Amino acid sequence: MQKLEVFGANKLKGQIKISGSKNASLPILAATILSNKKIYLKNLPKVRDIETMLSLLVSLGSKVKIKKNKTIIDNTKQRKKFVSYSLVKTMRAGILVLGPLLAKFRSAKVSLPGGCAIGTRPIDVHLKALSKLGVKYKIDQGYVIANAPKGLKGNNIRFSKISVGATENLIIASSFARGTTILSNCAIEPEIKDLINFLNKMGCQIEWTSKRTIKIIGISEVNETSYSVMFDRIEAGTYLVAGALTEGNLKINNIIPKVIKTEIDILKKIGSKIILKKNGIQIIGNKKIKSMKIKTAPYPGFPTDLQAQIMVLLCKANKSSVIQENIFENRFMHVSELNRMGAKILTKGNKAIVKGKISFAPAELMATDLRASVSLILAALTAKGKSVINRIYHLDRGYENIEKKLKKVGAKIRRVN
Ligand code: UD1
Repeated sequence: MQKLEVFGANKLKGQIKISGSKNASLPILAATILSNKKIYLKNLPKVRDIETMLSLLVSLGSKVKIKKNKTIIDNTKQRKKFVSYSLVKTMRAGILVLGPLLAKFRSAKVSLPGGCAIGTRPIDVHLKALSKLGVKYKIDQGYVIANAPKGLKGNNIRFSKISVGATENLIIASSFARGTTILSNCAIEPEIKDLINFLNKMGCQIEWTSKRTIKIIGISEVNETSYSVMFDRIEAGTYLVAGALTEGNLKINNIIPKVIKTEIDILKKIGSKIILKKNGIQIIGNKKIKSMKIKTAPYPGFPTDLQAQIMVLLCKANKSSVIQENIFENRFMHVSELNRMGAKILTKGNKAIVKGKISFAPAELMATDLRASVSLILAALTAKGKSVINRIYHLDRGYENIEKKLKKVGAKIRRVN
């Protein structure tokens, strides 16, 4: 099994190019199911979750070709509507194909998503909303068996909870429902806006009517389309933290700074110098780091996917900080590993009290989920000596070429078997 060896501690300096967004690519790939034609996608990140989603599409009958930075999805022969457990066990986003399959074929059998370390992650919000479009479903032996014999019918749907995935599933499904659908209490993550831009480019009729409300007029066919996926804001945030943490000087390129305003404002308050460019951000880390109270929240709040990374930075603050995790119930799994490196983090329910002025010591570590893995790398970058991070397959789900990108800016990091 592959591991990463990290030799700290040096300041990171140079430029990092951010890849396409994993969390925008996944619903966009699911949405290609609506099409009977070819779709040309640019800027998909080369990470395992995307390979898994492409395999899933292939299992449904799509043809996928990758040419340099372009992925061509040909759905002219896509007919299957069954998704097995083996394809979704590692990736919860597999459930995103349920809406598009029902929209296109009026029935589908999709495995419930696999267990996930960061929480139970139910799909009740997806199913309840789909039933309002006329879908009947039952759960049988770990599968959702769903059908809408008369096709989907538009409706007014208010989500009981803000959910990124449920909003995406319903936007895609409603695009092929008869009549008009109004979705309210929607998630408004930038990745959802990217999905809508993609669907509209295919010919769908989707518009925001207020901050969390979307109006969708159903259509029955989409056009051949090319689309370039947005940048990965979590990857960008991770490298910004790396710059701040190592007192480095990094230019994070290929991004739109205003999309990550919350993260930039927090890094400024913590003490980093930030210079905004048109398509990038320069961060200059400061020795003095100020303590903070941070609460994760749906966009435009602070992202749960950056909680573990910012926690590492706050271990260096002048005083104790508090991080409140409001999205997932079990997302402090990195804490015990960080404490093994010398951190003093105490968790109480959904709060973590993070003691400051910590110097991380190198250690042999175990990654537990995608963002937890990267937080261990960040801590190891500041620990003098050799750290070894095991189970990095979690990391490969969502970070493209992480060791290459870090090496380029001066990190001593290598992958070993
Ligand atoms: C997406 C992101 C993930 C991110 C999360 C929150 C992708 C592929 N993944 O996940 O990286 O951490 O948003 O920003 O884009 N919930 C229910 N019932 C449901 C659906 C969700 O109770 O039917 C709960 C979840 O357990 C969680 C909360 O709602 O506590 C938010 O989940 P959701 O926004 O749906 O996250 P995902 O779409 O799974």
